[in-house]
Formats: sequence, structure tokens, C-alpha cells
Amino acid sequence: MMTADEKKQRYADVAKEIVAVLDGENNLIARMGTVSNILHHAFEHYFWTGFYLVDPNKPDELVIGPYQGSLGCLRIPFGKGVCGTAATMRQTQIVDDVHAFAGHIACDARSQSEIVVPVITASGDLIAVFDVDSDQKAQFDQADREGLERIVQASFS
Ligand code: SME
Repeated sequence: MMTADEKKQRYADVAKEIVAVLDGENNLIARMGTVSNILHHAFEHYFWTGFYLVDPNKPDELVIGPYQGSLGCLRIPFGKGVCGTAATMRQTQIVDDVHAFAGHIACDARSQSEIVVPVITASGDLIAVFDVDSDQKAQFDQADREGLERIVQASFS
């Protein structure tokens, strides 16, 4: 496992890479696909990495967006699971043991811990959540939160 300093440095390097690759690209799906790909391959503790978008046709539901990893659930209602909780509360959620989280949605039983960051535009609209799962317990900490919140904000607001 990486040290806290190594993890922070890796997030800083990845953030720079993402800014460089996204330069000049305005398409949201292209940006989300790129962010999930670069992050997924940068960290060994990432098992599933991707976006759930607020469905414009059903604004109280999240629908699967660009992701890396095993098959994800297609839809998550607001308020359900870790993703739906992050969407409703508009706050990052860190869960050390997803099997102990009431209402957790098990898309892949191998997922053990999770971080979900809301994606909020500059005008304050929630457009998606960014979800990272690990296949081991308690893999996400404040360094992940800071690193991911910074990247999500820089990429989508
Ligand atoms: N575990 C999530 C569902 C999404 S996946 O893990 C891909 C949740 O409870 O929100």
C-alpha cells in the first residue's frame, strides 16, 4: 500500500495529466471517460471507477455513465446506496465497509469499500456523482477525498 505522501503526489501528478489531456475538449462524456480511465489506471486500490449521471428525463434517478471495471448497475435512485446518498446530500461519502452500509447497492459483490464525490457545476447544479470502489476494506481516506474533489472540480465546474 502507498504511503500518504505517495498517494498525495500521485493525485497531484494525475490531476496535471487530466488537465493536459482534457485541454480544449468540451464534450461531457469525453471528459468523464478520460477522467475515469486515467484515474482507474493510476491507483492499484481502484477496482471500479466511474460516473453516474443525473438522468435529465428522471431527475430523481442516476443513470450509468462512462466507467472502468466490471459491469455496473444501470440505475440508482436518489437516496439509495452510497451513490444515491452522495447525490441527495451533495457531499462526498467514504464507506470503509460497504456491506455494513444500510441500503448499499451491490453491483459487484467483490466491492468492499467506496468513495463517492458529487459532481457540481460552477452554477451549482448537480450533474453526476463519481464513484470509486475497492475490492478491499477501508481503502479511501482524506487524501483520496482531497485528490478526487480537486480533480472533479477542475474537470467539471
Ligand atoms: N455501490 C454503489 C453502487 C454502484 S457500484 O458499486 C458500481 C452504491 O451503493 O451506491
